Amino acid sequence: MARFTRSQLLAQALRTPLIPVFYHAEAAYAKDVLRACYEGGVRVYEYTNRGPEAFAIFSELQTFVEAEYPDLLLGAGTIYTPQDAERFIEAGADFIVSPVISAEVAAVCKRHDLAWLPGAQTLNEIYQAIQLGADLVKIFPASHLGPAYIKTLRGPLPHVPLLVSGGVQPQDLADWFGAGASCVSIGSQLLPADGPGGLSARVAELLRQIEKARA
Ligand code: 3PG
Repeated sequence: MARFTRSQLLAQALRTPLIPVFYHAEAAYAKDVLRACYEGGVRVYEYTNRGPEAFAIFSELQTFVEAEYPDLLLGAGTIYTPQDAERFIEAGADFIVSPVISAEVAAVCKRHDLAWLPGAQTLNEIYQAIQLGADLVKIFPASHLGPAYIKTLRGPLPHVPLLVSGGVQPQDLADWFGAGASCVSIGSQLLPADGPGGLSARVAELLRQIEKARA
């Protein structure tokens, strides 16, 4: 049973619009990173299905989040198949992120009344994602498209919630939000090279920058 409704996911993603994207095969390290992000103000977090241990670690993280951080939405990312969507939802995923548009994954999320965030690039893909029930459309890989592309999309699509992801650099956040991003995901560029030590402060600073850019 999902802990959050689809509209709660969307509202929270717009309130704290930095969504870390993370995978690590060790539960203790994955928890440290999640804790640091939470302490920095993150309330929506994506753990990706990118390794053989992903499901076991996700299940552990989910139990941890439910006990320690009940106001954090923990989603499962890199979900291509309805089977994976089912098992991560069963394990407590609060939302599902897919790199592509899959009508089967969309149908599973719909049946569970759970938020679905598929990847898309073109107007046709974004439209198709919305028609299939996407709550937020993930524009991926965003660095390849650039902020000007988001700005152009905002002409015909003024109201579709857009999550910008893939190659986003922390120093470019003002450009992405200035162009019309609703929220951003950052993966590889978020974690300082020396580990999660300075991560809370970094995340808090990025959330402040986003707030400033949206003011
Ligand atoms: C994603 O799935 O959105 C990306 O892996 C995040 O990309 P990044 O690591 O380049 O930020």
